[in-house]
Amino acid sequence: MPFSGTKVLVTGGAGFVGSNLVDRLVEMKANLIVLDDLFTGRKNNIQNLDKIEFVEGSVADTKIVNELVEGVDYIFHLAVRNIIVSTKEPELDFEVNARGTFNILLAAKKYGIKRLIYTSSASIYGNPHYLPINEFDNINILNPYAASKFTGECNCFAYYESFRVPVAVVRYSNVYGIRQNPGNPYCGVISKFFDSAMEGKPIQIHGDGEQTRDFTYVTDAVDATILAALSPKAEGQVFNVGSGKETTINYLASQINNLCGGKSEIKHIDRRDIDNIRRRVMNIEKIRHFLRWVPTVNLQAGLRNTYQWLRENKGI
Ligand SMILES: NC(=O)c1ccc[n+]([C@@H]2O[C@H](COP(=O)([O-])OP(=O)(O)OC[C@H]3O[C@@H](n4cnc5c(N)ncnc54)[C@H](O)[C@@H]3O)[C@@H](O)[C@H]2O)c1
Repeated sequence: MPFSGTKVLVTGGAGFVGSNLVDRLVEMKANLIVLDDLFTGRKNNIQNLDKIEFVEGSVADTKIVNELVEGVDYIFHLAVRNIIVSTKEPELDFEVNARGTFNILLAAKKYGIKRLIYTSSASIYGNPHYLPINEFDNINILNPYAASKFTGECNCFAYYESFRVPVAVVRYSNVYGIRQNPGNPYCGVISKFFDSAMEGKPIQIHGDGEQTRDFTYVTDAVDATILAALSPKAEGQVFNVGSGKETTINYLASQINNLCGGKSEIKHIDRRDIDNIRRRVMNIEKIRHFLRWVPTVNLQAGLRNTYQWLRENKGI
């Protein structure tokens, strides 16, 4: 087992992607510490809480970060204030997403680690000039969240180039799946659509619904993230993580509605300011080539898994 006997810190490990990653790392026998301030995360997202050390605290707290990073082999840095909070409260966004990442890097430099994996976002590409988007395309920052996530990336590479902190960056595109709880007001579009469709309420689409995204199932995102930690080829690299498939929001809504019995009306409502990205689909050739990663769960299968989980866990 590659993580057996290693000490691993996961920030944001009580969140959606983080808790799925933590489950996998527990299976892989890592000695785990989770740092999370439970802003959007929940302790009961973590299945094996008894097998890990859980610290409730913030990545913005340099003292806690230093104490936890000392002696750690791997850091998976996922803690984040999401796009909706970021836009409403840009100061908090900067404090957690940019400054928090900086704190992690400072501590990683000070104590030495085997690898730091930073989970960035496709939102940094904004409205791309070309599709599918590859890692060398223009960065087009359209909101404070994209700015703070990209600041985190820039500092990762600055610390790699200047101080040889061994980093790898994964840029996720719209991750969905189990534990993305519609009860969380900041959850993604898939959870929201399921929430409405399961209740037979109208599914509300902001804008004309012809905007597109690239949806990544959470276990695929976790696999890619783990490979970025373990592969010698990933050091100092950035990788797109997506399905490579472009999906319109109208198609997504109809698929979810059909899965739930087709009871909902699909309504188009006003476009939000944060919905300023028209099309997105990722080129995933680099990660396929370097890390031999390919997505294994297609949209239909991922939506079925998510639906089943929601039926079993709704209201938790
Ligand atoms: N879900 C997606 O579609 C998506 C897409 C692109 C990138 N990402 C990135 O993946 C990572 C995980 O996102 P997610 O979707 O699981 O979000 P999430 O909100 O479910 O998880 C984030 C976690 O960070 C915790 N957190 C927030 N502020 C913190 C702080 N100051 N200190 C410690 N913990 C804090 C939250 O409580 C939560 O548990 C983030 O870095 C995000 O930018 C996610």
